[in-house]
Amino acid sequence: MSKTWFITGAGSGIGAGIAKAALNAGDRVVATARNLDKARNALRDVTGENLAFVQLDVTGESQTKAAVERAVDQFGRIDVAVNNAGYAVMGNFEELPNNRHRTAIRDQLLGRGLRYARRAAGHA
Ligand SMILES: NC(=O)c1ccc[n+]([C@@H]2O[C@H](COP(=O)([O-])OP(=O)(O)OC[C@H]3O[C@@H](n4cnc5c(N)ncnc54)[C@H](OP(=O)(O)O)[C@@H]3O)[C@@H](O)[C@H]2O)c1
Repeated sequence: MSKTWFITGAGSGIGAGIAKAALNAGDRVVATARNLDKARNALRDVTGENLAFVQLDVTGESQTKAAVERAVDQFGRIDVAVNNAGYAVMGNFEELPNNRHRTAIRDQLLGRGLRYARRAAGHA
């Protein structure tokens, strides 16, 4: 049975790659990105009725809720949630100030990651 994927940060890299693989396997994809033009361009070769684009900056609580609701409106459910959007903290670990590490963990795990996962799971 085909699945519906909800992917954050689908406009490049791993997120775009997962989106393409899912679509090529016959699944449906809600590709979210803060820059929709970039996402549309990255996925231009796999565009079709099984692909929907939704704007989402994952740092925003209200945007996350709206994006999950739009995904469910479009395809009825979310089967696979890929919490991909994020960034790397570059530099020598011991030289980077503590607040850079704290911010990255807060942003990508404790804050947006868990919040987003809870929202998506509510509609799984
Ligand atoms: N590649 C690796 O070796 C590696 C290793 C460990 C972990 N990771 C993690 O795996 C994920 C994907 O990595 P990647 O290599 O594919 O990197 P990437 O090409 O830079 O992709 C990251 C994506 O996340 C998006 N993004 C960042 N902050 C966002 C936000 N606040 N809201 C919405 N989208 C946001 C970026 O969008 P914009 O284009 O708008 O910036 C970009 O499309 C990242 O979370 C990365 O930290 C990657």
